[in-house]
Amino acid sequence: MDFFEVVQRRRSIRRFKRVKIPEEDVVKIMEAGRAAPTDATLHLWSAIRVVDETKRAEIARLIEQPHVEEGAEFFVFLADLYRLGELLRYRGNDIVEHRLALFVFAAIDAALAAENMALAATALGYGSCFIGAVQNAPRELIKILNLPKLTYPLFGLVIGVPDEYPPPRPRLPLDMLFHLNEYRRYTEAELKNAFTEMSRVSKSGNWLRLLIKYAGRGGYFDSRGTTLETLLKELDFI
Ligand SMILES: Cc1cc2nc3c(=O)[nH]c(=O)nc-3n(C[C@H](O)[C@H](O)[C@H](O)COP(=O)(O)O)c2cc1C
Repeated sequence: MDFFEVVQRRRSIRRFKRVKIPEEDVVKIMEAGRAAPTDATLHLWSAIRVVDETKRAEIARLIEQPHVEEGAEFFVFLADLYRLGELLRYRGNDIVEHRLALFVFAAIDAALAAENMALAATALGYGSCFIGAVQNAPRELIKILNLPKLTYPLFGLVIGVPDEYPPPRPRLPLDMLFHLNEYRRYTEAELKNAFTEMSRVSKSGNWLRLLIKYAGRGGYFDSRGTTLETLLKELDFI
């Protein structure tokens, strides 16, 4: 498949056939993740491939994402400063005291690796879906996956043989996403148009409801933020 075709073909798949992916394809997909850029060669990410069916079922139930169990493969991506700390310790050094910036770059590293994997999966004819819902139960995931301090579960990626091929989901217009030389403020007309463009996101056509559910006052990200802050302290990130 041509690269641009792969990019356009990728979409979040939430229904999978209950069949396995050949190991050689899984390795190809993991190699694509490994090939992603990483800030200063620090490799601030890891992923846990969850093959244990009981663990996978438990995670799917905890975060209420049945497709996590239905896909052939499930990876949990971590911000991982633990390995970096170990490498430095092994050579008689220590990790920086202020680690928040490393956490941010770890999230970037992890996202780049995961998107490479999602695209590789698409190129091989598989489907995938990012799973940010791991943020709804990070404490439980830390236990289930036996994560050491200085690691944090950022998101999951489920990959499998697709059993659906939904139409492409809408995106904001190009000129709302890209600014030229400086940040251009949005006009009221553009804001109105954004809701019109994005109304194809669901049958009800109500994009606002989605925005509010996640990011409006009292939305998911309110409690995710509180938990994240507490955990980043407990796990020695800040
Ligand atoms: C960081 C991130 C977290 C996501 N979390 C979830 C999730 O927990 N569950 C889910 O079904 N989809 C999840 N998605 C998929 C998005 O809903 C999807 O990418 C978006 O609706 C656009 O659709 P598309 O991927 O088909 O283009 C996530 C996507 C990203 C990038």
